[in-house]
Amino acid sequence: MQSAPSLLSRFGLLRPAMSRSLSTAYDVGSSTNIKWHEGAVPTETKEATMKQRGCVVWFTGLSGSGKSTVACTLEHALADSGKVTALLDGDNVRHGLNSNLGFTAADREENIRRIGEVSKLFADTGIITLVSFISPYRRDRDRVRERVGQGRFIEVFMKVPISICEERDPKGLYKKARAGKLKGFTGIDDPYEEPTNAEVVLEAETPEGKRISPEEQAGKLLDYLRSKGFLAGPSK
Ligand SMILES: Nc1ncnc2c1ncn2[C@@H]1O[C@H](COP(=O)(O)OP(=O)(O)O)[C@@H](O)[C@H]1O
Ligand SMILES: [Mg+2]
Repeated sequence: MQSAPSLLSRFGLLRPAMSRSLSTAYDVGSSTNIKWHEGAVPTETKEATMKQRGCVVWFTGLSGSGKSTVACTLEHALADSGKVTALLDGDNVRHGLNSNLGFTAADREENIRRIGEVSKLFADTGIITLVSFISPYRRDRDRVRERVGQGRFIEVFMKVPISICEERDPKGLYKKARAGKLKGFTGIDDPYEEPTNAEVVLEAETPEGKRISPEEQAGKLLDYLRSKGFLAGPSK
């Protein structure tokens, strides 16, 4: 049986290894003797193949503000235009990667840190990454913004008054929190820090009081992504 490299070279798929620096390893966080290994295929090459640019669209807002609904609607719209996406949703990620975390301030911080790192990995692969988490603390969101890099991090603030979220209450959580059966609920007895520099703000109503549908909200985001060049490959 032929080895993988010889098969690859037979099909002309093998590239010479990039020259790598031999500098010594260093320590990162709690890890020792670590060194960043540069990927052989640059992000731009992957982006050119997919005719899009990797980014993180970060939905933040109160529970029931429509983060999951709009992210889902946007993902379908992007898929319909042939775009490659990933969707990381708060509740879903807490089923797996973050199942060992609760809702204390420290756990919320670690929750966001991990998901920020995962979304960066996706975006660095050229994928349009949609993330919907309450992410109540400004500092945690700003840290992710810094890690992902300015220009590729799109903060979307679901600016929906708590009265509307509470009226929707799809999971019955506001009712539970008001009855004192759920402690540390964002917006009731836990803080939510509104973004001050969000790239996109999505409101629930027009100034005239007309409700705005999730499709309209997703449409606004689609226009934003198009206008910033994320729906086309990198410019040469
Ligand atoms: N723009 C909107 N207009 C009307 N209802 C909405 C809108 N966005 C979301 N909803 C409804 O609000 C509820 C909460 O939405 P969800 O996406 O689960 O919120 P979150 O993920 O922020 O907790 C759902 O029942 C959804 O159908
Ligand atoms: Mg949700």
